[in-house]
Amino acid sequence: MTDHYAVVGNPVAHSVSPAIHAEFARQTGQDLDYARLLAPRDGFKSTVLKFHDGGGKGVNVTLPFKHEAWNLVTVHAGDALDAGAVNTIDFRNGRIIGYNTDGIGLVTDLEQNLKFPIRNKRVLLMGAGGASYGVMHPILKARPELLVVANRTPAKAVALVAHFQKFAKLALRGMSAQPYQQLGGSQFDLVINATSAGLSGEMPALPTGIFATGAFAYDMVYGKFTPFMKFAAAQGARVAGGLGMLVEQAAEAFFIWRGVRPDTAPVIALLKREP
Ligand code: ATR
Repeated sequence: MTDHYAVVGNPVAHSVSPAIHAEFARQTGQDLDYARLLAPRDGFKSTVLKFHDGGGKGVNVTLPFKHEAWNLVTVHAGDALDAGAVNTIDFRNGRIIGYNTDGIGLVTDLEQNLKFPIRNKRVLLMGAGGASYGVMHPILKARPELLVVANRTPAKAVALVAHFQKFAKLALRGMSAQPYQQLGGSQFDLVINATSAGLSGEMPALPTGIFATGAFAYDMVYGKFTPFMKFAAAQGARVAGGLGMLVEQAAEAFFIWRGVRPDTAPVIALLKREP
C-alpha cells in the first residue's frame, strides 16, 4: 500500500520538495507519494489534520506555517523545541511528532557536501527570523570558535542570542549579537545569510573586508545568485546557495519517516541541472 506525504504551505506551487522526495523514493524503493498541499492562511491546522484523517503519514511544512506547526504538534523532537519552528511532522502511534531538520540540512551541506567543517571557525549568521532560529543550535553543536548574529533590527538579534544562551558554551569563544555597522574590522571564516533579503534582490548592510582568507559565504536562498553571493564572490570568498541545504533537510525528513537514508548527491546534481 502506498503511503502518503505532502508539503503544506502558502504559496506551495513552486516547492521542489515533491521532486526531491519522489527521487528519494525511487532511489530507495520506498512505496510512497508526495503531494503539494495549499493551506489557507487561516487553515493550516485543519488542512494538516484532514490530510492525516485521509491516511497521510507525514508532512513537511513551509512558509508561513512553521511556527504554527510547532504549536500543533504534541511532541517536539530533535532540534524542534528550541527552534520554535517545525518543518517535518511525523504521524506515528497516535502522536503528532514535530521535527526541525533545517539546521541539520545546513550543517550537513556545509560539512559533508561542501567539505567545510564548522569546528573552530568564526561564524557570522545574518538574520534573526525563523530561518535563523532553525539553524542556531545545529551550528553551535558543530562547535564553532565564535558565533556572531547580526540583524537589520538589532533587538531581534539580541533576543535570538538570549534564546540560545544555554548553548553558548558550545562555541569556544561564545556568541554575541552585533549590528551590521559594528562588524567593520572583524573577520569571519563562514558567513551565513539567513535573511530573506535575497528574495527581493537586496542584501544586508555588510561592511567589506569581513571575509577571512578561504572564507565561505552561504546563502540559504536557493536557485538565485543573490546580491550577497555576488558581494562575497567579488571579495574572494567561496559561495554556495541553499539548494544543498534544501535536499539535506528533505533527506533527514525522509529518514525520520522511512528509516532509510537516501543518497543526496545525485539529487542535488539533478536539481542543479534544471533551469
Ligand atoms: P524567516 O522566517 O524566513 O527568517 P522573517 O521572520 O520574516 O522570515 O525574517 C526575515 C529576516 O530577514 C529578518 O532577520 C529580517 O530583518 P529584520 O528583523 O530587521 O526585519 C531580514 N531581512 C529581510 N529583508 C532584509 C534586508 N533587505 N536587509 C537586511 N535584512 C533583511
